[in-house]
Amino acid sequence: MTRKIAIFDTTLRDGEQSPGASMNTEEKLVIARQLVRMNVDVIEAGFPISSPGDFKSVSEIGRIAGGACTVCGLTRAVDKDIEVAAEALKTAGRPRIHTGLGVSPSHLRDKLHLTEEQAIERAVHAVSYARKFVDDVEFYAEDAGRSDQEFLVRIVQAAVRAGATVVNIPDTTGYNMPWNFGTRIADLRERVDGIEDVTISVHTHNDLGMATALALDAVMNGATQIECTINGLGERAGNTSLEEVVMAIKMHGEALDAHTDVVTRELTRASKLVSSITGINVQPNKAIVGANAFAHSSGIHQDGVLKARDTYEIIDPADVGAAGSEIILSARSGHAALRHRLGELGYTFADEDFDDVYNRFLEIADQKKEVFDEDLEAMVQERQRDVKAVYTLDALQVSCGDPLVPTATATITDEVGATHVVCATGSGPVDAAYKAIDKVVAVHGDLSEFNVKAITRGIDAIGEVTVRITADDGKIYTGRGADNDIIVSSAKAYVNAVNRMIQTTRSKEGK
Ligand code: KIV
Ligand code: ZN
Repeated sequence: MTRKIAIFDTTLRDGEQSPGASMNTEEKLVIARQLVRMNVDVIEAGFPISSPGDFKSVSEIGRIAGGACTVCGLTRAVDKDIEVAAEALKTAGRPRIHTGLGVSPSHLRDKLHLTEEQAIERAVHAVSYARKFVDDVEFYAEDAGRSDQEFLVRIVQAAVRAGATVVNIPDTTGYNMPWNFGTRIADLRERVDGIEDVTISVHTHNDLGMATALALDAVMNGATQIECTINGLGERAGNTSLEEVVMAIKMHGEALDAHTDVVTRELTRASKLVSSITGINVQPNKAIVGANAFAHSSGIHQDGVLKARDTYEIIDPADVGAAGSEIILSARSGHAALRHRLGELGYTFADEDFDDVYNRFLEIADQKKEVFDEDLEAMVQERQRDVKAVYTLDALQVSCGDPLVPTATATITDEVGATHVVCATGSGPVDAAYKAIDKVVAVHGDLSEFNVKAITRGIDAIGEVTVRITADDGKIYTGRGADNDIIVSSAKAYVNAVNRMIQTTRSKEGK
């Protein structure tokens, strides 16, 4: 049997640190459920002291994960951080506190103003203090990738003696090359007493496009936990991409003497979910989950793949959940077929909600000959996005053309149930719709990005619009909307962004 490599997902913590990727608690819970379904070993659910919203997310995720996986909260090596994380993690069946500090010369000198001895003292205190609250404590040596190896050995040794159960060796700035990162891990294994009884974790960033290679090199040299994110989201150029390391280990398990327990057929869904919720599109040529990852366009390649798939494909698309479904859903399909297919896709609904879901499905099916899995995913995600919407767009009518002045009439319901019918003109149909919506909503944001893409197939495809609006305090909020009518998608996306702005502000205030 090969070594088990634990997959530590930090999409909800480091991933959320991507510009524009902030998520509210509801959205984090949707992703956390998917992570549980994928069978990851650890979910880093947030940084509890950073805001009441993060505290709530860690606590709620601890509740839904139960004993299925470890739930982890990040802290600095500061007592108050550790106390707050311990409090947030009380709901978790398997809680872990992730604490640590910078260890490279520049972090010690310029950020922390600590000598090496003071840093060791802080690390020992933080680990032993965290152990008073939970049995599982992970110590991170931030910027280990640029640290002095002698000092790294000393501080890791001290953390292990203080009771760390996991030691995390991050390449925080993505500076390393595969040929010098694994050697650090091998050296720690050789020189730190008792390291054989703790898990060695690696947390690599992608500044030079090396994150996956570094993580695998670390595994070859003895690491047994990888910290990663869906779609490689994360600070700057991102973190190690979960789907890449998991599939690389699956394809090269023998050479690496490694396996993971991740359910790989869930990878594509996880990728779409994260992209939909954060509004950050996946590049089409992204390994494993990009739209082109299994597309063959040249005649020679098509000919080869038709003769034998593995001439140009190393992964069976079905293994990552990218294969199409056999059930054809249309306006003639009943409740049972829809419930069955949604169940296969991992979505279940209470009976009282299902009529609503079915009615929305019929609306889509009326406009399309065939409803594909992507339509269903878009439909469910749209529903999830609208949970606790402050404003709901009930109807939109737009007249435009040459020489008409674009005019929009919108019907919007607010959270107390009042209906507003508003009308506005604009420079184009979308502008008119947004101006009409602005007449009702109580907040203001400047439109800073507007993107349209077809997310399903055919001339009657569902078009998804992503917008980013910038609030007066400079914060960016992303909204998405999907519909067969692009103007309606645009209006839904705008209302969604406004709802997020309001929900995020409320969640940060702990409301
Ligand atoms: O990149 C990093 O070093 C981190 C730590 C906080 C683990 O994200
Ligand atoms: Zn990081």
